[in-house]
Amino acid sequence: MTARKIVKNVLSVGAIDWDRRLFDELIPLPDGTTYNSYLIKGKDKVALLDTVDPTKARDLIENLAELGVDRIDYVIAHHAEQDHSGSIPKILDVYKMAKVVTNPKCKEMLKDHLLVPEDRFITIADRETLSLGDKTLEFIYAPWVHWPETMFTYLREDKILFTCDFLGSHLAQSELYARDLGKVYGSNKRYYAEIMMPFRTSIRQNLDKIKPLEIKIVATSHGPIFDDPEFILNAYRDWSSDNVKNEVVLPYVSMHGSTAEMVRHFIDALMKRGITVKPFDLPRTDVGELAMALVDAATIVIGTPTVLVGPHPAAVYAAYLANALRPKTRFVSIIGSFGWAGKTVEQLAALIPNLKVEVIPPVMAKGFPKKEDFAALDNLAEQIFLKHQTLGHS
Ligand code: FEO
Repeated sequence: MTARKIVKNVLSVGAIDWDRRLFDELIPLPDGTTYNSYLIKGKDKVALLDTVDPTKARDLIENLAELGVDRIDYVIAHHAEQDHSGSIPKILDVYKMAKVVTNPKCKEMLKDHLLVPEDRFITIADRETLSLGDKTLEFIYAPWVHWPETMFTYLREDKILFTCDFLGSHLAQSELYARDLGKVYGSNKRYYAEIMMPFRTSIRQNLDKIKPLEIKIVATSHGPIFDDPEFILNAYRDWSSDNVKNEVVLPYVSMHGSTAEMVRHFIDALMKRGITVKPFDLPRTDVGELAMALVDAATIVIGTPTVLVGPHPAAVYAAYLANALRPKTRFVSIIGSFGWAGKTVEQLAALIPNLKVEVIPPVMAKGFPKKEDFAALDNLAEQIFLKHQTLGHS
């Protein structure tokens, strides 16, 4: 990997992780990822903005060596998570005079997680500036996108906003810029769903905060960067808004086919009413796809059989995930089956306290669904149709 120029004296020097397929031992990465790091060479000082995942430290060090960088004055840390900060100790070891520039919260986290010594830090305040000679860095606190210490840097002369995770995507590609916009949109939406969605209020606040800035380039720390910033800013405005779509997300699991038969009928009933439905067979589902579907659907319906006395563990996981991701969903219901008795509905409902939703009465069939169960599913689809009509959805 070689360094790539963005504008004069501003270079991308990070690493592409083509083969990574899992993040946090939790999030699937179907397209790998990148850890973007940026070098800004001022007339008087040199700054490195973020580093890379420690597994890719060698790429970063080699890129800097290829460029003949023999001095780094400042390492700007936007975020303490290790995929960006994990190579800071290595950089501080190679570049002995370098200081880590960050906010007080991030400093404490870097001390905790990476054992960076106290005397290597310079702390900055919100909107404070740092001159590199002919280039000025303005630091903008941006808490909770997605940790409490997250911040941005605005390079005033070149009008580049460095946003770290915010506006980023897990998408490995050799092209520096976002060009295949269909692909980029999907990757960014997936990233938003998995990482940013629980922080919608903070996202809106931070979008407002950067609104007055003239931005020519958005340089994130994952995925391709944007020389048409409105593309990604508009997408974030839409995703983080309260607008929901005429969609039902239907995560389900079936053991002996009863719930599957109900799901099959229910999908038809929704489609007949012009409602978009996105079913996810949970044992075979990429949870990133499920998370992405949750971004703007008006309704979630979970399909589950009864195992012992409660929901199937796969359905429990889906409910837990939805509760953690806090989508803007308005309505929730449950469909499924039971053999003799159980508390499936009560147990699932208890798993989603974070969702500000109206619960539409569930449809639970005893054994294989019968005529009255199919009629109840039709009625559920009709209720969802009527409720969606009230939303002014797109
Ligand atoms: Fe890419 Fe929150 O780290």
